[in-house]
Amino acid sequence: MSNVSVIILAAGQGSRMKSALPKVLHPIAGKALVQHVIDAAYQLKVNKIIGVYGHGGDIVPKTINDEKVTWVVQAEQLGTGHAVDQAMPEVEDSDIALILYGDVPLIKTETLLQLIENAKQDFALLTVHLDDPSGYGRIVRNSAGQVERIVEDKDSSDEEKQITEINTGILAVNAGELRSWLKRLDNSNAQGEYYLTDVIAMAVNDGMVVKTVHPETEEEVLGVNSRMQLAELESFYQLSKAECLMEQGVTVIDPTRLDIRGNVTVGRDVTLDINVILEGAVIIGDNVSIGANCVIKNTTIESGVVIQPMSCIDDAFIGTNCKVGPFARIRPGTRLAADAHVGNFVEIKNSNINQGSKINHLSYIGDTDMGTGVNIGAGTITCNYDGANKYRTVIGDNVFIGSDTQLVAPIKIGDGATIGAGSTITKDTPEYELTLTRAKQTSIKGWQRPTKDNE
Ligand code: UD1
Ligand code: CA
Repeated sequence: MSNVSVIILAAGQGSRMKSALPKVLHPIAGKALVQHVIDAAYQLKVNKIIGVYGHGGDIVPKTINDEKVTWVVQAEQLGTGHAVDQAMPEVEDSDIALILYGDVPLIKTETLLQLIENAKQDFALLTVHLDDPSGYGRIVRNSAGQVERIVEDKDSSDEEKQITEINTGILAVNAGELRSWLKRLDNSNAQGEYYLTDVIAMAVNDGMVVKTVHPETEEEVLGVNSRMQLAELESFYQLSKAECLMEQGVTVIDPTRLDIRGNVTVGRDVTLDINVILEGAVIIGDNVSIGANCVIKNTTIESGVVIQPMSCIDDAFIGTNCKVGPFARIRPGTRLAADAHVGNFVEIKNSNINQGSKINHLSYIGDTDMGTGVNIGAGTITCNYDGANKYRTVIGDNVFIGSDTQLVAPIKIGDGATIGAGSTITKDTPEYELTLTRAKQTSIKGWQRPTKDNE
């Protein structure tokens, strides 16, 4: 759609949000409202995307920081027509101008394609019928059923208030024509604003036909004005994501208790228990089970993996048939090869754990390269940090580390080595030998416990 320019209105502060943050920066599914709109526009492969932000709203372009968008400021909010006019210097006359809103986040690309198709010849307007149309601009049609004009709620007669077809605000039309109509707008109306909606009557006067397009669902055109409405759209969005996963063969135990904040790719026969949060790019293979209350971000999970409840995984790779959790924390740069086990209260960071190795209880493994078939006893800690620098721990194949051991990096544990429980290992250890640093156990005959003074 190289001949389409998208204008996104985002100048409103959104006072009903009662927030220091401009409304369009509040998130749905972890992504700013206006970014949803930018992404929908971008999928159309348009010429240009122009964002209109308000006075004091320069945090919007700064936060969004998206090179696809050209930002213009509307210093004073004099109405939607005025807002669009601020963007027009960025738009070619031969383009189709598509008007979107930074606080209407769930608009679908397919709906926009229909609008653009109609705007090649005519004026294309997105409308819906609402049971309760109060507050919205009403679509006034003539006896032949053709759109004549839009009347704003505050300017409407009692008779016009009965009209249930409303203006969503989203429209597409030739930019050159739009420019000429915008120049003729005035603000002699109930709100003293330059209404974008007044261009419809001008278009009709110029002999243009107004074609209406309707969205598939009402939620697509709902705006966010309050935190309640934000939460409602979040739920709607999440439910549609859950449905999409179920259609792909995922068992979602409770679709109202799953949160997707990114792009999830799934295999077949995946099970997602309640309160799972998937963030960023998450790739899940076949037959994976993810337990309750897991948070998984930017991670690839291969087939047959079982993630038990309450586990957090960030920026990691989990190989085939691994078992993780409950209560495991896997941090960035961790790679578990096939069949590895990571149990409760284990933290792993920036480490390679090779095939079949087990770290089942209460351990910290950081900056480590671990071989195959290793067993790490409960309470093992790799001391990777001396307060200034980080060092690696290298553990060979088939090593057995006894419980409550500290491995002070940089250090290398040879293949097949055994480390006695309770050791503090500060030097490299030989292959296939037992190394331990414990003092010899002694017992003192006749020793007595101290007693309190004055007793
Ligand atoms: C507008 C429409 C109305 C429609 C409704 C749908 C007009 C005159 N009316 O009414 O027909 O039914 O939306 O929700 O267009 N904005 C700016 N700068 C401004 C004014 C508004 O950027 O000077 C932005 C706001 O941030 C908001 C959007 O435009 O995102 C709509 O503005 P708002 O004042 O909410 O319009 P409504 O009165 O609701
Ligand atoms: Ca509004």
